[in-house]
Amino acid sequence: MLVTCIVNGEPRQADDVWEGESLLYVLRERLGLPGSKNACEQGECGSCTVYLDGILVCACLVAAGQAQGRQIRTVEGLGDGEALAPIQQAFLRAGAVQCGFCTPGLLVAAHDLLERSATPGDAEIREALAGNLCRCTGYEKILDAVRLAATERAGGQAR
Ligand code: FES
Ligand code: FES
Repeated sequence: MLVTCIVNGEPRQADDVWEGESLLYVLRERLGLPGSKNACEQGECGSCTVYLDGILVCACLVAAGQAQGRQIRTVEGLGDGEALAPIQQAFLRAGAVQCGFCTPGLLVAAHDLLERSATPGDAEIREALAGNLCRCTGYEKILDAVRLAATERAGGQAR
């Protein structure tokens, strides 16, 4: 089947999509967007987190056909062209990236949190990121990165 959708603001089409194919597979293998990672393919790890019509979803659990005509935003669409988004810069500065497998999903989830809550407390950050598993960092650096991005945003720095 043919799937047509808007990805990171651009109309995209994927042809010959099998009915059982996931949105994650289409993004990575057909549309050249490998940022969203496939770690569990069972909705458990959050490494494939993307926006679907503005709502966070695990792309591995979304059938590609469900994306027909809808808006998708992936980690590749957080920044502005080559410029990293503030949350991406904060992850780098805080040392919150090790192997990086969890990072795309965490970035999308953290970005979403900061859109909803400009100055989240620790409990709010932990809750927002609870669906995103990391095997490497111990999470403290990730929390540091989100705090850093929130602080910078509160200080009026450009997003
Ligand atoms: S790969 Fe989708 S939740 Fe793990
Ligand atoms: S940095 Fe390796 S899984 Fe999170």
